[in-house]
Amino acid sequence: MKRIFITGASAGIGLATAKLLAGRGDEVWGTSRDVTRIPQLPHLHAVRLDLRDMTSLGESFHAALREAGHFDVVINNAGSGHFGPAELLSAEAVQDQFQTVVFSHIELGRLTLAALRAHGGGRLINVTSLASRLPVPFMGAYNAAKAAMASFTMSLQLELEGSNIRVIDLQPADIRTEFNDAVARTDGGDPRYTTPVEQVWRVVDQNMKAAPGPELVARAIAKLIDDENPPRRATVGGFFQAAIAPVIFRFLPQRVRVWGLKKYYKL
Ligand SMILES: NC(=O)c1ccc[n+]([C@@H]2O[C@H](COP(=O)([O-])OP(=O)(O)OC[C@H]3O[C@@H](n4cnc5c(N)ncnc54)[C@H](OP(=O)(O)O)[C@@H]3O)[C@@H](O)[C@H]2O)c1
Repeated sequence: MKRIFITGASAGIGLATAKLLAGRGDEVWGTSRDVTRIPQLPHLHAVRLDLRDMTSLGESFHAALREAGHFDVVINNAGSGHFGPAELLSAEAVQDQFQTVVFSHIELGRLTLAALRAHGGGRLINVTSLASRLPVPFMGAYNAAKAAMASFTMSLQLELEGSNIRVIDLQPADIRTEFNDAVARTDGGDPRYTTPVEQVWRVVDQNMKAAPGPELVARAIAKLIDDENPPRRATVGGFFQAAIAPVIFRFLPQRVRVWGLKKYYKL
């Protein structure tokens, strides 16, 4: 039995993971901004946490830690995305995107590492995104924020390799969740962008509706928890997106990558 803290346990990947882990007997502390959104299940403890409030972040984590005694695994999962032309993103939108998927995740990671060190070791799993490597058009701030978090995660790996702490970068491809419902979407008020924004959104929405469900990611996370020597980075999703595209993409010149992604998103 493991003691696990996971953010964003009210929907999508976090909910599926919390259910799977609690269902097999792990003790899971799962967060939401609204604890009534966390299902009442044996072994699942609801915690209120808002990624936009750095003070409450520490308070929520420490309250859960006091209740748990220690954590074996912390999963930095909660997040949401902005959708709109990069050229027209407001400073506030960029700040908000980095707050929700970078600054808050780095802070929770810092609190986690202190807690894991005090206990003698454990795992930190950062849920970044394949968008950190294969950017989605009109998700400039999100792509950049996820790339920043992937890079920060690798920095931790460099510094902590050889300790009893494993840091893992989990990069989902498209997964069928509530993510798109929460996306803040805009054409920036510029008619030149209205049609392309709508076109790409249609592809993004279709891809998500046709994507594998979040249970696939939940199973991948359970494996990362159980594996004695887990991979430092794992990709999970449909076969083409998760297994083929990243490999081809790695060896292509930038010009061809841009061409290929534009084709893929019908831009
Ligand atoms: N779905 C995909 O295709 C995909 C692909 C790659 C990466 N990801 C990443 O996977 C993670 C989970 O996404 P998902 O697809 O499962 O999305 P989801 O279904 O929309 O669930 C998002 C979760 O994050 C929480 N959350 C959102 N904003 C928050 C905030 N400001 N403060 C606290 N909690 C917040 C939500 O909780 P409340 O609203 O209840 O507070 C919810 O539990 C995200 O980091 C996302 O970037 C998703």
